[in-house]
Amino acid sequence: MPRKLIAGNWKMNGLRSDGHALARDLALRFSTEKEPAFDMLICPPAQLLDSIGQVIAGSGVALGAQDCHRETKGAFTGDLSAAMLADIGCRFVIVGHSERRQYHNEIDLMVAEKAAAAHSAGLIAVICIGETEAERDAGEALTVCARQIAGSVPDGATAANTVIAYEPVWAIGTGRTPTVRDVMEMHAHIRAELSRKVPDADDVRILYGGSVKGSNAGELLTLPNVDGGLVGGASLQAEDFWTIAKASE
Ligand code: PGA
Repeated sequence: MPRKLIAGNWKMNGLRSDGHALARDLALRFSTEKEPAFDMLICPPAQLLDSIGQVIAGSGVALGAQDCHRETKGAFTGDLSAAMLADIGCRFVIVGHSERRQYHNEIDLMVAEKAAAAHSAGLIAVICIGETEAERDAGEALTVCARQIAGSVPDGATAANTVIAYEPVWAIGTGRTPTVRDVMEMHAHIRAELSRKVPDADDVRILYGGSVKGSNAGELLTLPNVDGGLVGGASLQAEDFWTIAKASE
């Protein structure tokens, strides 16, 4: 079984002082934990990546960005390349988050290109997929996620360079979560679909995301084929995020 990955997606939250304090707190907890059974990743907003990289250096907590451009450099005002992120110490980058798909019109092909760019830069791509509420109500959740995997996971993806995050759009930031049964069904389905594209699909980490908190993490993050969590709101307080990580063990 792959080692659990507990990832915090801070989204557009965090000024320097509170961001550093949060990172410092987590770094201290993780580095003093005896044999943690999980890996920990934090994905702060871009302006804090460099300095937070220094705050968490040597702690074992990994650094990730929330997006990257598909090209390595050039005339793309406001964008950051995967190579730039790697250069300042990122090991991971989230691509295809539903908020990027929704507000920046990112489609599967663009997500696949970003993930491929991440791989070329030596980064691990956290590729997000997930159905909307209308799609689930229409009984299309499994089909939608299969299509997103087919379209968003680039050639060359392996368990070493790719993590999948299943985040039902209707569960993000809403306090609602799928049933245990639905999560198990979806994660097994994702694993099966991945095996069409990825040679070592059994070892790919498949995270669950969407309203994960301390009170449901023990139930959701210990299910078969759930190899960790991608946590938004509850990753903004060290105690909450740590409780989730411990509950996943
Ligand atoms: P949430 O967000 O935990 O606040 O629901 C999860 C995410 O969007 O990654």
